[in-house]
Amino acid sequence: MAKKKITNVSDLPGVGEKIGQKLKAAGYIDMMSIAAASPKELGDTANVGELTATKIINTAREELDIGFETGKEVDDKRLQIRKISTGSENLDKLLEGGIETQSVTEFHGAFGSGKTQVGFQIAVNAQKPIDEGGVAGNVIILDAENTFRPERIRQIAEAEGMDADKVLENIFVARCYNSDHQMVLAEHVGEMIKEKNVKLVIVDSVTSNFRADFSGRGELASRQQKLNRHLHTLQRLADVYNVAVYITNQVMANPAILFGDPTRPIGGHILGHFSTHRLYVRKSKGNTRIARIVDSPNLPEGEAVYIITPDGIKDPEEK
Ligand code: GTP
Ligand code: MG
Repeated sequence: MAKKKITNVSDLPGVGEKIGQKLKAAGYIDMMSIAAASPKELGDTANVGELTATKIINTAREELDIGFETGKEVDDKRLQIRKISTGSENLDKLLEGGIETQSVTEFHGAFGSGKTQVGFQIAVNAQKPIDEGGVAGNVIILDAENTFRPERIRQIAEAEGMDADKVLENIFVARCYNSDHQMVLAEHVGEMIKEKNVKLVIVDSVTSNFRADFSGRGELASRQQKLNRHLHTLQRLADVYNVAVYITNQVMANPAILFGDPTRPIGGHILGHFSTHRLYVRKSKGNTRIARIVDSPNLPEGEAVYIITPDGIKDPEEK
């Protein structure tokens, strides 16, 4: 008789109800998250020795259904990808249709480059039907900088001819007070995605809390490690639930306070590794903005020019 697979974290040998609760609260909710943990990390969380942690991790690995997929299955899954229009045809063209599900799309740029505004626009557009540039889904916003503005959403929704109250009711906002809080929220987003038909998750910005919490020189490694885990969580959400994940990351505009490339995003190669598509946005004249693809597995290099208007993200007027 085939042995029944363990699926509940508390049922793992050496865990039990009490440690299980602790692990789940820290985001180790299934075999996959335990299997992918480091013994040190897991040991610290569960308050057990590294040896015990290693045993727990090894059991989780054995219990895990390591899933090989056929090329056909991967293809079928990719056919489920949907794109959210950004409001600008130029930008949509650059993104080959818009911000896509099953991917993490990162916009980085200086303050005022319009990263938050793009987030507002797609939070509205995502709710439109598929044939109108939306994904007929609701939106989760992890607001790390306290920049969510319902009145701005209202303005954009009304310009789109949508019922602004309805649009606002379909956006679920959580303010993130620090990096740990942000990580816990992200780890619980999965449950809500299913419950509330969410198709877009926005994290604005993904880095600010980590920057504030790990500012000392010696803390760089821990910051990268935590960010790494957070981004991994987000990538998995995109992948598992077929949602679009849009993250922002501010880069310094003042070259005097940074060595090397002043436009290098915080998180460096770690963010790069976990974001599927990365765009660098910069200000141009007035309300004009220019987005450039910095890194993407399938999008060709290129730039798009768009404008931020009271009605939202648009294309510049033809001259
Ligand atoms: P940080 O979060 O500081 O890094 O900046 P950001 O990249 O998120 O910039 P944000 O999206 O907040 O862009 C704000 C800019 O949008 C303003 O500086 C304005 O130039 C521009 N903008 C143009 N029209 C409007 C409008 O009608 N409302 C608002 N709120 N902003 C507009
Ligand atoms: Mg912003």
